[in-house]
Amino acid sequence: MSALVDGFGRAHRDLRISLTDRCSLRCTYCMPEQGLPWLPRPSMLSTDELVRVAAVLVGMGVSEIRLTGGEPLLRADVVDVVARLAALEGPHGRPELSMTTNGLRLAELAAPLRAAGLSRVNVSLDTLDPDRFARLTRRDRLPDVLTGLAAATEAGFAPVKVNAVVMREVNDDEVVDLVRFALRHGYQMRFIEQMPLDPDHRWDGAAMVTQAEILGRLRSAFRLTPLDGRGAAPARLWQVDDGPGTVGVIASVTAPFCAACDRLRLTADGQLRSCLFARTETDLRSAVRAGADDDAIAGAVAACLAGKRAGHGIGEPGFVQPERPMSAIGG
Ligand code: 5AD
Ligand code: SF4
Repeated sequence: MSALVDGFGRAHRDLRISLTDRCSLRCTYCMPEQGLPWLPRPSMLSTDELVRVAAVLVGMGVSEIRLTGGEPLLRADVVDVVARLAALEGPHGRPELSMTTNGLRLAELAAPLRAAGLSRVNVSLDTLDPDRFARLTRRDRLPDVLTGLAAATEAGFAPVKVNAVVMREVNDDEVVDLVRFALRHGYQMRFIEQMPLDPDHRWDGAAMVTQAEILGRLRSAFRLTPLDGRGAAPARLWQVDDGPGTVGVIASVTAPFCAACDRLRLTADGQLRSCLFARTETDLRSAVRAGADDDAIAGAVAACLAGKRAGHGIGEPGFVQPERPMSAIGG
């Protein structure tokens, strides 16, 4: 089967799989209070179908799989999904598995996930203030996230990464506190520039908190030394004071890393996307359900990749926000 190289010479090694579009929180920048119109169950890939598609992609050269959502831990058989994906093999051996989660179910699931073969976890946490957390996520569950983070460390995940989307007059005054919190617990803190992926399309580039601003705030409290060699990773890293702690910034908007992108995305309903901001999807679910063999699925994957554009184009004239919100694409 062909290597996963696109028209710009980028080899694709990283597959993000959304396990569900549902979520146990309602972050204001992600979902309305009442949630979104969820994907109908029959349209979602069964675990057999999901593993089948992933097996073809691993066979084509994927070596890293990140599980996302919505909230991936809401999938009832998530531990089994992890075990089955971890057992796949391709030209680069077995894939490394990681997960982005809101952390609410990690207290019970961190240890079984680790035993099933999950290597790394990223926990989303935008604030350490319980009232602010309750307003921002519309659920009063900060203690569950903190317990989940502790459970992840306890289960042996290292480093545990904490992701925060920085938003003006929402949590931009908290970046220093979040780094102190992460340093204290041995987590790696990473700040994310907000991207135009909100369901009501109200994102405003001018109001966005930029990497430069985040670094400015951090430098008022810490000495930051840039670390090189991020490869295809979205985060740029800085050592904090004399280390060993580090902090990352994911500047998707002001310093896009599209030129080194090695990511493909599979939605919970079996659509392959070559970019978060792609305007088209490749329907692998229908192919699988129509009985396509592995070569036919690989052909559809190659066609999707051939249509991958050079970059996301945020801020350029003609940029169109994707129809699906982040929770239905997978982070
Ligand atoms: N821009 C950047 N990050 C976002 N996330 C959700 N919506 C956005 C957005 N518009 C983050 C979540 C989580 C990860 C899956 O993506 O907070 O950390
Ligand atoms: Fe759930 Fe993540 Fe969206 Fe918050 S940002 S509602 S945790 S999917």
